[in-house]
Amino acid sequence: MTQGIQYDPFDAEIRENPHPVYRRLRDEVPLYFLEKYQTWAVSRFADVWDLSSDQEHLTNAKGTAPAQLLTQDLEVSPTLNTIDPPEHSSLRATIRSSFLPRKVKALEGVARDVCREQVDQALATGHLDVVRDFGSLLSATVVCHVLGLPVEDGPLLTQWVQAFFTHDPDTGGMTPEGLESINALNDYCVDRLRERRQQPGGGNDPLSVLSEFQIGGRRYSDEEAASHFGNLIVGGTETFPKLLASAMLRFAEYPHFREQLRDDPTLIPDAFDEVLRYDMPTQFLGRSVVRGFEHQGVRLEPGQKLIFLYPSANRDEREFPDPDVFDIRRRAPRIVSFGTGQHQCIGRHIARMEGRIALEALLPALGDYEVDFTRAVRLKTEFVQGYGSLPISFEARR
Ligand code: HEM
Repeated sequence: MTQGIQYDPFDAEIRENPHPVYRRLRDEVPLYFLEKYQTWAVSRFADVWDLSSDQEHLTNAKGTAPAQLLTQDLEVSPTLNTIDPPEHSSLRATIRSSFLPRKVKALEGVARDVCREQVDQALATGHLDVVRDFGSLLSATVVCHVLGLPVEDGPLLTQWVQAFFTHDPDTGGMTPEGLESINALNDYCVDRLRERRQQPGGGNDPLSVLSEFQIGGRRYSDEEAASHFGNLIVGGTETFPKLLASAMLRFAEYPHFREQLRDDPTLIPDAFDEVLRYDMPTQFLGRSVVRGFEHQGVRLEPGQKLIFLYPSANRDEREFPDPDVFDIRRRAPRIVSFGTGQHQCIGRHIARMEGRIALEALLPALGDYEVDFTRAVRLKTEFVQGYGSLPISFEARR
């Protein structure tokens, strides 16, 4: 009984603006069955929160991305996000040390240097692309430091990841170039992995950990370990630049917030969290049912899948007062933008650090910048929404 609601993540209308339909789903059919994909769309905050931690009935091992769960045009390769316990708990515990707040703090200097250099260059011209130049370079440089890769490789890695996420504008699905890029990234990771296996450093950086990690007495093959490693590169470079673009867009839309942040930069972390809530680019990740169960009076059968509609959950009026209001002082006690439970984003401290340092550098230096919408590129895919390019202009200081 869908009472006339039509929801398909690939529909042009949904890709243009999903929020009106998300609201109806939350109000009328919080667990909506997509017959075509044998998939339940979960739209309310509490349901996304609770089901994200359910490892008794749900598995990640059949994939979590739309191209794996829905269209099945991408095979499920092993990543931290596509393995279950005990392998997941064991690998995550081993790799975790590189992502702890203490380690992330040590990278602030690197992040600040990238930001300062980019801002200085931009001030000379009066122009900056928040995504293609600033956000991508910042996240790629930081990820290279976290993963122990040469910083010079950052731009190439970003290029592959961006091609992978640029979907067909007509169908919204994967493109041949996108699939080629992911293969190129994979080959790069296999090469790095083999190098490390030939010259083990004995360190606890992710590449060393993956090259030596064992499960059930078996070591990962080069390809398996490389697949895990590639996913860390994707996670580390893909989403952050889009969030930074949303932040700069919102602060252009609401100049009083921009001024408040310039006057009091201690408000920046809360403001970035509100951008994360309001403009989560990833529309969903999902799970598959392995053991049948009932949730909110609905029976979910083995073999069916679930997708967690993060931007819908983040605007659920049952969780957030006036959810469609953007307010940098909201300080929401919890959001789903980094997931929750055992698979909660391992890179969340990195993302928040990058957001804070980028905004601390950009907002005071650029003054009253303007967004150039004629050249901005908006991505409208079933998976990711946001800006693939966001040029801004401001007064040059020569
Ligand atoms: C603003 C930027 C980011 C956002 C919005 C984001 C979002 C997410 C979400 C929603 C999940 C949960 C998936 C699930 O429950 O199935 C996740 C997992 C993950 N993220 Fe992030 N992420 C961001 C940045 C990063 C960074 C910087 C890294 C690495 C350097 C990273 C690496 C990962 C990994 C490896 C996982 C899988 C964790 C697991 O399954 O145990 N992410 N991320």
